[in-house]
Amino acid sequence: MRVYLDNNATTIVDPYVFETMAPYFCEMYGNPNSLHEFGSETHPALRCAMDQLYTGINANDNDDIVVTSCATESINWVIKGIYFDHIFNGDKNHIITTEVEHPAVIQACRFLETLGVKVTYLPVNSDGIIELDTLRESITQETALVSIMWANNETGMIFPIEEIGKICKEKDVLFHTDATQAIGKVPVDVQKTNIDYLSFSAHKFHGPKGVGALYIKEDKIITSLLSGGEQMSGLRSGTLNVPGIVGMGKAMELAVENLDFEKSNVMKLRDRLEDELLKIPDTFVVGTKKQRTPNTILISIKGIEGEAMLWDLNKAGIAASTGSACASEALESNPVMEAIGAEADLAHTALRLSLSRFTTNEEIDYTIDIINKAVKRLRAISSTYSYAPDWHNSKL
Ligand SMILES: Cc1ncc(COP(=O)(O)O)c(C=O)c1O
Repeated sequence: MRVYLDNNATTIVDPYVFETMAPYFCEMYGNPNSLHEFGSETHPALRCAMDQLYTGINANDNDDIVVTSCATESINWVIKGIYFDHIFNGDKNHIITTEVEHPAVIQACRFLETLGVKVTYLPVNSDGIIELDTLRESITQETALVSIMWANNETGMIFPIEEIGKICKEKDVLFHTDATQAIGKVPVDVQKTNIDYLSFSAHKFHGPKGVGALYIKEDKIITSLLSGGEQMSGLRSGTLNVPGIVGMGKAMELAVENLDFEKSNVMKLRDRLEDELLKIPDTFVVGTKKQRTPNTILISIKGIEGEAMLWDLNKAGIAASTGSACASEALESNPVMEAIGAEADLAHTALRLSLSRFTTNEEIDYTIDIINKAVKRLRAISSTYSYAPDWHNSKL
């Protein structure tokens, strides 16, 4: 049996999405900016896809959704674009983010630090969430941008985006949210919240890889980082990825249609998996179920290196992760576990299981069985494991 429980890294392309994209590879392959029919025959599908994106996040007609190559590009655009508009050419010099952002945010901020920008990395509590008072106190006259994720890729913890948006509005500071792990898992409505910029990637919600987007609120246009042929109203030059855009639009439509299914069926499967795994002595899961995306579990099984568990799971055909896919080749401890205060040996035990609407009951049964067997095997050979009833509280 092959079981894919690494859906926070990437997802299977929904067959309906694939079907929608297919004609735009070998039949309608023209450049949409060309003046002939090969170009113009792609226009209806592009318009439909853009409508699906606007509807999916409830954007206003006057707002911009600019298609990019991925969330990493969208995030880098916001953070570096804000630098050009408000720091290099303005009177601000400060950005606020959190310690548990995806490396796309952290590394873009670190880059700006080398240019002299001050960056505050807000700490998180033991649930992996920031304290709103700390955010409020960190904003100064110099703050150009607050960049805080909607949902965390490791823990699935959902940040209080509405409250964060209110604080940013009160303090008159721009707010970007990385919604890469939120789209298709929780409702994302840019009109209900004060969001100026929002980033996402299609492949996290059963769309294709290599395409993402940046939402830009009506009057919050930022400097373009890709100059060239003036595509996307001059905001991001480069020939349009027609199949990618068409696929992302369809994926967004299906993601929104399936939100109830995520909240009922996917969550039910996730909860069953979690409850069964928590019966293993000395295990704990980061963050309360209610505050997490419906598909994610970050579990720590005492005495078992995450990589050792991954090895056993992989041999049995199960894909999981110890952290974000970008860092998974390095034998490092989970940075989010460290940020919530776990000691290094505990942070090394992190195992992330992330489900999708394609995960089945049988796959969950099989995974529970394989993990139980792996725990027995690995604990039997681990010299460091000894039973301690209250071990995780003392470590956090
Ligand atoms: C929260 C979050 N932000 C950004 C990204 C980057 O997405 P991409 O690799 O598609 O650019 C990821 C991918 O894992 C993510 O989980």
